[in-house]
Amino acid sequence: MTQFNSQLTTESAQRTDIDEQWWKEAAVYQIYPRSFNDSDGDGVGDIPGITEKADYLDDLGVDVVWLCPVYESPNADNGYDISDYRSIMDEFGTMADWEELLAELHARDIRLIMDLVVNHTSKQHEWFQQSRRREGEFEDYYHWVDGTPDEPPNNWKSVFGGPAWTYDEERGQWYLHLFDPEQPDLNWRNPDVRDAITEMVTWWLEKGIDGFRLDAIDHLSKADGYPDGDPDEPIVGVEHFSHGPRLPEYLDELAAAFEDYDTMTVGEMGGADIEQVDDFAGDDGLDMIFQFEHMGIDAGPDGPWDPEQFGEWELGDLKEIISQQQNQIDWPTLFFGNHDQPRPVSRFGDESYHAESATLIATLLLTLRGTPYIYQGEEIGMTNNEFDGLEEIDDPMTVGAVDDLIADGVVDSYEEVADLVNYQSRDHARTPMQWDDTENADFTDENPWFDLNENFDEINVEALRSDADSIWQHYQDLIDLRQAEDVLVYGDYDLLLPDHDQFYAYQRTLDDERFVIVLNWSNEPATFDADVEAIDSEILISNYSDSPSTPSGEAFRPYEAVVYRC
Ligand code: NOJ
Repeated sequence: MTQFNSQLTTESAQRTDIDEQWWKEAAVYQIYPRSFNDSDGDGVGDIPGITEKADYLDDLGVDVVWLCPVYESPNADNGYDISDYRSIMDEFGTMADWEELLAELHARDIRLIMDLVVNHTSKQHEWFQQSRRREGEFEDYYHWVDGTPDEPPNNWKSVFGGPAWTYDEERGQWYLHLFDPEQPDLNWRNPDVRDAITEMVTWWLEKGIDGFRLDAIDHLSKADGYPDGDPDEPIVGVEHFSHGPRLPEYLDELAAAFEDYDTMTVGEMGGADIEQVDDFAGDDGLDMIFQFEHMGIDAGPDGPWDPEQFGEWELGDLKEIISQQQNQIDWPTLFFGNHDQPRPVSRFGDESYHAESATLIATLLLTLRGTPYIYQGEEIGMTNNEFDGLEEIDDPMTVGAVDDLIADGVVDSYEEVADLVNYQSRDHARTPMQWDDTENADFTDENPWFDLNENFDEINVEALRSDADSIWQHYQDLIDLRQAEDVLVYGDYDLLLPDHDQFYAYQRTLDDERFVIVLNWSNEPATFDADVEAIDSEILISNYSDSPSTPSGEAFRPYEAVVYRC
């Protein structure tokens, strides 16, 4: 087993009131393998392609890689529909390739966490195939309900649009799928299912991985008897399939499987309130939860797919939500993008201040309290793409959402929601990684599985790495700073100027150390006049290379972001 340098920051080691953990001090880098790097020229990113970039990850300075699913899958949802948990998807390589990746990452002191998708499997999974034939122990592995083929058991809707039930002719019953019809939900009420999952989890842990990101974990427990859902909810029925009555029990059981291993676990909970997070994380539960409240600030009353209102957001809301997460969650996760979200610089930044706003977001990400997650491409400020029609979209959620809006009569055609798609689609995050300005950005030799964003001639790794003031360098510097300064990891967080409509400013304190972070989150200059005794402060990082501003009445420039030691 690989020995990691688990020496935690030395100063904090002497402090008695800090619960030190390597995963609290880590910067995590998320890889969507299909779009990262293609090593064999078939247009699809693969595992050897990631291994080729192990030095790149090391140079950037990240400590953990979260690998989105690489298991065998028919790809109805790009790997989140798993047909065999113990083998690797052909397009991505072999188990030997995966073992080599693990070894190469570990050789660089980078840990690897896998995506654990156990709310559902693929329909092609052997378990489902046997279940639909009612074979032996598999008969009740999924949620099967009687009914006539023209009447679903209740009104629940799938997160991807359309009914959450599909009639299976072979078995003559309906099965539940909270996502795509190709992703039937496992029946966690069945102890055999839970045992099979624990066995599989242990199998991966024994292979030497360092933990899991747990997909859609809030949906494991469904309400008894499948009652009708509230038709006014953005996803009908969600109140009956999110945080169901037995969720704590299921998560406790899962957490027990990790107990004997030095792992990190992070659960995705799309519907958890800030107050709920610590019911599922900490002590005996998962280590951390992805809490999504800040990702909803730009959505309309009907959620992210509301064509009437999208894309408008207030800095005050962002500050308020993040401050609640900082102050109320025992150990928060920090993220502004992932493979399901639009690109942060296009969404929360300003493409006309591309470098400034991308580095401002990076500064926030890497100086808050919690574990930061960098999604591939954020380190070069990759932007949203421009999609010209639904035929350019791969994402089943986008297609399902548009179909629903048309079927429900909210709009008549795709054209009416083209702007919404171009704002919201998950595909913005899935355009291939932009390595350089040559053909296909050096992601692949030919025919990429998904069109690249055309701006790769300017926004690419090679160009940014050779520029000392670039977004990439800024990420590297911030990661270094966070690793060196335990106040940035473990320090308390206090919001400054809560009502200011341009500044997001806060301080981090630990014993007698104090850092102040000032972000001018606007495209106008702004004067900082908070009483923070920071006049003689030392500037540690700034995203304007020439004479960064001091918090002493000077005007901060658009999207200027400065970290001070006071
Ligand atoms: C959440 C994942 O992040 C997303 O990509 C996926 O489509 C759903 N869960 C279903 O697995």
